[in-house]
Amino acid sequence: MRSKIVAGNWKMNKNLQETESLLAELSAKLPDTGAEVMVAPTFVNLTNAVRCLGASTIQVIAQNMHFADNGAFTGEISAEMLLNIKVDTVIIGHSERRAYFGETDEVLAKKVTAALTKNMRVMFCFGEELEDRKSGNHFNIVESQLRNALFSLDAKAWGNIILAYEPVWAIGTGETASPEQAQEMHAFIRKTIGDVYDVGIANNVSILYGGSVKPANAEEIFSKPDVDGGLIGGASLNADDFVAIIKAI
Ligand code: 13P
Repeated sequence: MRSKIVAGNWKMNKNLQETESLLAELSAKLPDTGAEVMVAPTFVNLTNAVRCLGASTIQVIAQNMHFADNGAFTGEISAEMLLNIKVDTVIIGHSERRAYFGETDEVLAKKVTAALTKNMRVMFCFGEELEDRKSGNHFNIVESQLRNALFSLDAKAWGNIILAYEPVWAIGTGETASPEQAQEMHAFIRKTIGDVYDVGIANNVSILYGGSVKPANAEEIFSKPDVDGGLIGGASLNADDFVAIIKAI
C-alpha cells in the first residue's frame, strides 16, 4: 500500500548508549503526521532498539541482510534472524553496499527474493552516479537497476516493496537533487512500473527520495506528487533535524 514514509538510515553510526538516547528523544518528540517513521541502526543495536522503542510507532529496520537462510557466511545476517528480533523490513541495494562491498544487481535480486519469501518488507535503493547524469544516461541506469533486481518478481510481491531513489551524487555531499529532478525521476519510475506491470501497482508503491535531505529542503521535495517521503542519512542522526523532516511530510 502506498504510504508516506520517513526513514533514517544511521549507517555505521551510534553506539549502544547513543542509539538508546537518540531513540528516547525521537519517541518523546515524534509528531503525529500519519506517516510511517522508520530507523535503521547498526546490526549490533537492533535488538536493543526494538526493546527500547516498546510500543512506539517508530519501526526498527535493518540496513542489509544475506540471501541465505543460514550457514557458513561469516559476518552475515539472515532474514530469519531479523524476524526473530521483530525486525521485518530491510534496506537492500544501498549505493554504499554496491560501491564498497561489491553488491551486484544479481546478488541484490537474490536478497530481495529471500526477504520477500520470508514476508519481509524490502526498501530497495538505487540511483545513478554523477557521470550517468552528466551524460544523460540516468534514466537508463535506473531502469536497468530496477529491471535486474525487481522486474522478475510477480505482481503480488510489489505489496511488500518500498523504493528509495538515491542519486549517488547527492548522498552525503550536501548537494540534493532539485525537487523537479526528484519528481521527474520518480514519475519515470512510476511510469516504468506501470508499463512493466500495471498502473494500479505503480500507483500503490511508495517511492522515497534520498540524498542530502535536510530540514531546510524536505518540505519542497516532499511536496512533489510522486515523492512519498525520504530516506535520510546524516540528518537522521540528530533528533531535532529528523523530527523537523518528519514534520515536513
Ligand atoms: P545523506 O542524507 O547523508 O545524504 O544520506 C542519504 C542516504 O544514503 C540514506 O540512505
